Amino acid sequence: MTTFDVRSGADAARPEPDSVSALFDAGLWDQVIDEVDGRRIRIGDRWLVDFASCNYLGFDLEPEIQQAIIGQVRRWGTHPSWSRMLGSPRLYPVVEQRLAELLGAPDVLALPTISQTHLSVIPALAADGTIFLDGRAHRTIYDGCVYARARGATVHRFRTGDAEHLGDLLRATSGRGPRLVCMDGVNSMTGNPPDLPAIVEVCRAYGALLYLDDGHGFGILGERRPDESAPYGARGNAVVRHHGETYDGIVLVGGCSKAYSSLLAFVACDTALKRRLKLDAPPYLYSGPVPTAALATVLAGLDVNAARGDAIRADLYRKTARVLDHLRHLGVPTANTSGFPLIEVPLADPDRLVEVGTLLLDRGLYVTLAPYPGVPRNEVGFRVQVTAANTDAQLDTLLDTLSWLATGYDRGRSVLRLG
Ligand SMILES: Cc1ncc(COP(=O)(O)O)c(C=O)c1O
Repeated sequence: MTTFDVRSGADAARPEPDSVSALFDAGLWDQVIDEVDGRRIRIGDRWLVDFASCNYLGFDLEPEIQQAIIGQVRRWGTHPSWSRMLGSPRLYPVVEQRLAELLGAPDVLALPTISQTHLSVIPALAADGTIFLDGRAHRTIYDGCVYARARGATVHRFRTGDAEHLGDLLRATSGRGPRLVCMDGVNSMTGNPPDLPAIVEVCRAYGALLYLDDGHGFGILGERRPDESAPYGARGNAVVRHHGETYDGIVLVGGCSKAYSSLLAFVACDTALKRRLKLDAPPYLYSGPVPTAALATVLAGLDVNAARGDAIRADLYRKTARVLDHLRHLGVPTANTSGFPLIEVPLADPDRLVEVGTLLLDRGLYVTLAPYPGVPRNEVGFRVQVTAANTDAQLDTLLDTLSWLATGYDRGRSVLRLG
């Protein structure tokens, strides 16, 4: 059985200081953005096309959403500076109710960020019981488990997405207290959702609660319908609904800092758990709440999602398919099998990351670099995020550059991994 080891390596999504500092020293990390123009950004005197933002639906640039801020700020001030335990502006319960309706969840508790949510909700749910942690869970989930362990939980890791391995561990593990399975919805590196029905079946069979972080999937994946505008499904109501599952035995965590271009996290759960968390979760009890502008943009984002979300997702799917088709045509393997707008592009030689990162900047492209051991060595490369606000001309630039890296730059030898 794999036991928990905080130094257990690549799949802990923890970049080692050396690999990060090489990127840092080469000016490829920790950038200051001087200006934004649509999905172009200026760093110093260089304009770049932004393929690193997670603003998948382009809500950051939507005039209707931007205009929603000022009226609410005049009403509530810039920041409701009570912790939520002391008082929540009416905007909060409205947001929670609208999220619960969209998700089809029994109830929703809103907190500031997903990271804070993991650090408080995972220990509360696990208590002195056992956590089964996916081998490639997001670093913030992992951190929540480290903290839960410090408070008495035992942690085991299972091979990523592997329902059979999870079942083996659940079967072999007895012990006191709750059993909690923690994993991502859409994985933040591969862009793929898990085989949720298989995972849920195992969890239910062995009496484990499934805790899912769908920070990426929320806003993009949604319920399947015959009239859906794209294979993402409809309404963007996240991975549980995408798989036609109920919330029975599932706690879904999501957030608005990606597709909704705002700052707010949520826990979709039953009302009894919501009450418990209100009495137990430090971000509810003691943290400053999200600013009024964020609450206003979440609400306006929900309106735009209801009115035009499916059309935006159809366009996003088409744009993402252009990149995935091109990689397929070049023979570059990517982990993404889902069509989600988050695409890992692996390098032939992981030691050339600084060189390739610099080339991409020189070609006017801003992407997310993925060093080892944040990803396994055979996945070192860069991550491209497509958003609805990227133009087709910008995608042409990206595709030309991918071709150049695969065939033109290094005397015909591909610097991207092939095969
Ligand atoms: C899967 C996942 N969970 C959590 C986070 C962090 O979210 P937040 O900014 O709300 O803390 C991220 C951010 O990259 C993420 O990808």
